[in-house]
Amino acid sequence: MTTRRGRYTAAVAVVGVFALAAVVLGLAMAPSTPRESSGSDTLRAAARRRRRSVGTALAAPTANTDPRELALVANEYSSVTPENAMKWSSIHPERDRYDFAPADAIVAFAAAHDMTVRGHTLTWYRSIPAWLADGHFDREQLIAILRDHINTVVGHFRGRVQQWDVVNEPLDPASGNLRDDFWSRGIGPDYLALAFRFAHEADPNAQLFVNEFGTDTVNRKSTALLHEVTALRAKGAPIDGVGFQMHRTLDRVESRAAIETNLARFADAGLRIWVTELDVAVPVPVAPGALDRQARVYGDVIAACLAVDRCDGVTTWGFTDRHSWIPAARPGLGAGLPFDARLRPKPAQAAMVGAFLA
Ligand code: G3I
Repeated sequence: MTTRRGRYTAAVAVVGVFALAAVVLGLAMAPSTPRESSGSDTLRAAARRRRRSVGTALAAPTANTDPRELALVANEYSSVTPENAMKWSSIHPERDRYDFAPADAIVAFAAAHDMTVRGHTLTWYRSIPAWLADGHFDREQLIAILRDHINTVVGHFRGRVQQWDVVNEPLDPASGNLRDDFWSRGIGPDYLALAFRFAHEADPNAQLFVNEFGTDTVNRKSTALLHEVTALRAKGAPIDGVGFQMHRTLDRVESRAAIETNLARFADAGLRIWVTELDVAVPVPVAPGALDRQARVYGDVIAACLAVDRCDGVTTWGFTDRHSWIPAARPGLGAGLPFDARLRPKPAQAAMVGAFLA
């Protein structure tokens, strides 16, 4: 009689082998990218010259994935963030079932190309599977479920995922207070400290981050974030850094100095800094000059990160306009990434390289 764990282990092993085979097959067939980028004109080489990482969000590769995309990512980036594969609804779809195959494929791809991995994300008010959202669990049960999830997921990737977005978007965008969401309602405000403790217990060597949007410059929300993180650390929460998502547009361009001033506040508090989800959405169809303005925003963010010693990396939320969350979520906007839908570098890619090499 096989145990539940035995069935689980066997299932994961079979699916994991398939996922890995898909990745290896994809890479073995990968023709060159449209542009033979090499030397210091790649993001990866330029960032390395300044001892920074440059990353991209990545969907789990499948047998249908265009191998040129994977070749471009391996050539241009030194870090990957699974865009969705490590979210609760994907990795923990049923209470007693984890599905690691998609995330394993991404982590295997990263390892094959000497890339680091940013795990995303262990607690978030979104992407909560129905068994959890509708489970009517009490506080003690939710704490036990959260501990089991984090221990299982972080433990599964221990040593293969270097950073974790332990808590994603905890603050209310308007007030800057803690969101009134699934976790804060179910456990209370101490869910943040608990999540970080569980993650540290599961992998003491991983860097642990709070990840937030709308906090690029000094404003009510970023100041609230600094206070929240500082208070948590003062109480012993093992928080190493803060991720600044930086989903930007052209209608509110904030200066490099304003971004730098804000990042420096967090660095001065002893926190590592990472720009975690950079994209610059532009109105589509793209008007003349828009991509040049977009490039300037990309270059300014890189320059702001370089000006802050503790800013370790910049991750774009995707790499090609072929796959981006923006058009579906923000109708009328798109073309937000450094490579176009035909995988050609846009002015943004050159501006990022230029900023790294300036
Ligand atoms: O995989 C299912 C598929 O089986 C189903 O047929 C399809 C239609 O329902 O949905 C697919 O799941 C979608 C998933 O992306 C994978 O494509 C979800 O519905 C969709 O909500 C999900 O959107 C993601 C979103 O986060 C919500 O998780 C976006 O791709 C992703 O780019 C976006 O990323 C977030 C960061 O995690 C946090 N910061 C903001 C950022 C942008 O919203």
